[in-house]
Amino acid sequence: MRPEDIKQVGVVGGGVMGGGIAQIHAIAGYQVTIMDISQQVIDDTRHEVVDGKWGIKRSVEKGKLGFDNAVSAIDLIGYTTDNNDLSECDLIIEAVPENLELKQDVFAELDKVIKPSAMFASNTSGFVIQEIAEKISDERKTLMVGMHYSNPVPVMTMCEVIYTPQASQETIDTAVTIAKNTRRDVSMCKDMPGTRGFILNRIFGVAREEANKLVEDGIATKEDIDKAMIAGRNWPAAFFGTRGGIGKQW
Ligand SMILES: NC(=O)c1ccc[n+]([C@@H]2O[C@H](COP(=O)([O-])OP(=O)(O)OC[C@H]3O[C@@H](n4cnc5c(N)ncnc54)[C@H](O)[C@@H]3O)[C@@H](O)[C@H]2O)c1
Repeated sequence: MRPEDIKQVGVVGGGVMGGGIAQIHAIAGYQVTIMDISQQVIDDTRHEVVDGKWGIKRSVEKGKLGFDNAVSAIDLIGYTTDNNDLSECDLIIEAVPENLELKQDVFAELDKVIKPSAMFASNTSGFVIQEIAEKISDERKTLMVGMHYSNPVPVMTMCEVIYTPQASQETIDTAVTIAKNTRRDVSMCKDMPGTRGFILNRIFGVAREEANKLVEDGIATKEDIDKAMIAGRNWPAAFFGTRGGIGKQW
């Protein structure tokens, strides 16, 4: 698929990440459908996308998004609990919980109901993309990459594009272009069996372990660690969230 062929985006798993991923694609002008097995999640996500802390209305209030763009973005997002409603999507981005077997089964099911030319992407935090793709057809494997976003998606502009040996160059290039169209700063990362995590989470994981060890060994408090990392390295999402901000989510 070429970037200009991507018009409809399906987001599977409409929780914390799925809502944000849908939001940035709608703002970029894509028709988006969020699919989640829970109607309650869909209702909550609709609220978050429109009225939430990182939602579309707040972006308008902060002067980051024009009114017309906001209205059309809200209109561009549809919601469903049925995979079949995604059958005509050109790109599917999966954001179901971080469970390898679940992701494999979700993609196996999507492979059956989504049109054969559609691209697949996983927002896994760290599973090997080739393992997630284990139960899909060889043809679809050429159309699959990882697209790893950071939370909260409307605020953090990272997108790691994870490329497998099976993915075609066109698939990889299109994923990069789509990510750029949603105003992401794209980093390329090779899919590597035997590893866990891509760029951000591998580096952050080591640092977080050290932070926990500093606390366990009684060397520094959580507050002092957060303060040092914010003041000394400009890491606003510091480890323990003791100074508020988005660090609270870690
Ligand atoms: N939260 C983060 O900070 C973060 C950051 C980057 C990547 N991720 C990754 O993104 C993915 C989603 O994380 P999240 O935090 O949004 O989780 P979440 O629990 O908020 O959302 C997952 C959603 O998937 C739905 N779901 C479960 N099974 C489903 C199925 N078969 N079909 C459709 N929907 C289904 C659930 O109802 C839930 O709403 C995970 O792989 C996670 O590791 C999370």
